[in-house]
Amino acid sequence: MAKKLDLERILSKQGFGTRKQCRIMIINEEVTVNGDLCDDPSATFELENLKFTVKGEAWDYREKSYLMLHKPSNYECSHKTQHHPTIYSLLPHPLVVRDVQCIGRLDEDTTGLILISDDGQFIHRMSSPKHKVPKVYEVTCKHKVSDEQIAHILKGVQLIDEDAPIAALACERISENVIHMTLAEGKYHQVKRMVAAISNRVEALKRIQIGELKLPDDLKVGEWKWLSEGDMLLLNAK
Ligand code: URA
Repeated sequence: MAKKLDLERILSKQGFGTRKQCRIMIINEEVTVNGDLCDDPSATFELENLKFTVKGEAWDYREKSYLMLHKPSNYECSHKTQHHPTIYSLLPHPLVVRDVQCIGRLDEDTTGLILISDDGQFIHRMSSPKHKVPKVYEVTCKHKVSDEQIAHILKGVQLIDEDAPIAALACERISENVIHMTLAEGKYHQVKRMVAAISNRVEALKRIQIGELKLPDDLKVGEWKWLSEGDMLLLNAK
């Protein structure tokens, strides 16, 4: 039988506040469900395909949230930040209340694709070293990148504090100073350290792909969007 829940509880589970706060919004006629105003907090609804609005903003019911963000520079990937605003300030408040987490942190000056979810299993699968989900970075280097430097990155570079050399899965020159580097791991400052190890320096870093999922051209810096079924397939996440 399809799962049903009362409206007050649905809104609270979706991150719109405590049950009391949600009850007040419903009684104040600030909520519609499947196109109709509902001022009864105890009215029950099937969760599947449920569409609602809160204070005029449209939402679909989601058991779990899966989204991507185009991270801007000068944002930090943690809830308690030190020098810059948190990436979570770029998301709607109900998602933050649902305690979404980013999957693999980017440095504060790195831009690009970051996945965010409140599904622990998904977060584990996407971040576990066992699954080795490849990530592609667009790396703008200070100096021209030579064939020897690319060969070195592909063969493996020795980083301080690592037991064995680490190689990129792929490394392709895009222009004199720009390379696309694919990594299987997500070690601390890995791209910057690998580029430093070949006597070059990262000037700008952008993550452009995770698994087979590319950062969409139309997702502007600072914008987020829900992951579609197709995106989930590209991430091989189901
Ligand atoms: N490698 C880095 O050096 N920084 C990042 O933000 C991501 C990968």
